[in-house]
Amino acid sequence: VLTMNELDLNGQRVLIREDLNVPVKNGKVASDARIVASLPTIKLALEKGAAVMVCSHLGRPEEGVFSEENSLAPVAAYLSEALGREVPLVRDYLGGVEVKPGELVLLENVRFNKGEKKNTDELAQQYAALCDVFVMDAFGTAHRAQGSTHGVAKFAKIACAGPLLAAELDALAKALDKPARPMVAIVAGSKVSTKLDVLTALSDKCDQLIVGGGIANTFLAAAGYKVGKSLYEADLVDTAKAIAAKVSVPLPVDVVVAKEFAESATATVKAVADVADDDMILDIGPQTAAQFGEMLKASGTILWNGPVGVFEFDQFGEGTKALAHAIAASEGFSIAGGGDTLAAIDKYGVAEQISYISTGGGAFLEFVEGKVLPAVEILEQRAR
Ligand code: 3PG
Repeated sequence: VLTMNELDLNGQRVLIREDLNVPVKNGKVASDARIVASLPTIKLALEKGAAVMVCSHLGRPEEGVFSEENSLAPVAAYLSEALGREVPLVRDYLGGVEVKPGELVLLENVRFNKGEKKNTDELAQQYAALCDVFVMDAFGTAHRAQGSTHGVAKFAKIACAGPLLAAELDALAKALDKPARPMVAIVAGSKVSTKLDVLTALSDKCDQLIVGGGIANTFLAAAGYKVGKSLYEADLVDTAKAIAAKVSVPLPVDVVVAKEFAESATATVKAVADVADDDMILDIGPQTAAQFGEMLKASGTILWNGPVGVFEFDQFGEGTKALAHAIAASEGFSIAGGGDTLAAIDKYGVAEQISYISTGGGAFLEFVEGKVLPAVEILEQRAR
């Protein structure tokens, strides 16, 4: 695809689609990872002398109606602070935007616009008319074929990929196309059903597939262990068996259990064969963490999606913490993605030592599944 770096943007009107869909609490940005990741792109466009308009969605508001709750106002405030210049938030922009070369404005939530989700040509053409160059940089939303991600790229005079989108695609290709061996993937989360396509895709690619959370409980049940009151999916036991027949899925030898799912619950370490009928498995045990840790340290490539325990509660966070540190200590190429995973990386302070942290949640998973991202596909078509 064509990339923004290749283009002369001097004096050009440039519309950049970022994924600034960040959590907001009490009117303030609660996690800035996505905004921070977009800053180099925005700065580069300004340095190149462009008149810059940045757009994004936030949340899932009802179309055609403005709601304070989903306004990008907190993001505009954050950007103003981070860039040391006032970044105006423009509410009405479909008829045109006043912005001069070297200036920057943020356009209000694209999901307030009728036709954004349905990706109507009418709206897409309005976006396209705002700019000379459209830059798609929102990797986190590249799996959505919407007006501001896909439609506008169809109609814009020039459509290209921004540096963040390009970096995300490069990092994922490095991990998935010709991974340095051995490749170890961690796929954790509550349900096999929601991550089935990811598990299946990775079972063809990696050398070891570490599973965690409710997913691991279903694999334990498939191996004949009792999981007590733990979250697991009885109807997917055969599926788990089929996956474990294709790729090595190392199972926990010990687990951390509790009698209830609560912040105050008492954590007890047990051998996996000793789980009682009224136990809930809420983390991997220390022996398992050490074994998985050795595996991770010796790997050439690591792909991490999902914490292996209920790390929001400290007494069930030791497994995730140990794996986070093992990934950090590995010489191999490591890539991590998904909201919970990023929260765990933050909590255990290992961001610096992970080779690449993706800004994608759903987009990250779909890419790993081998699905085509529509907003990338249209850039490829335009490049041809
Ligand atoms: C995300 O947070 O995964 C992206 O911003 C996409 O948001 P959506 O699932 O509401 O389309």
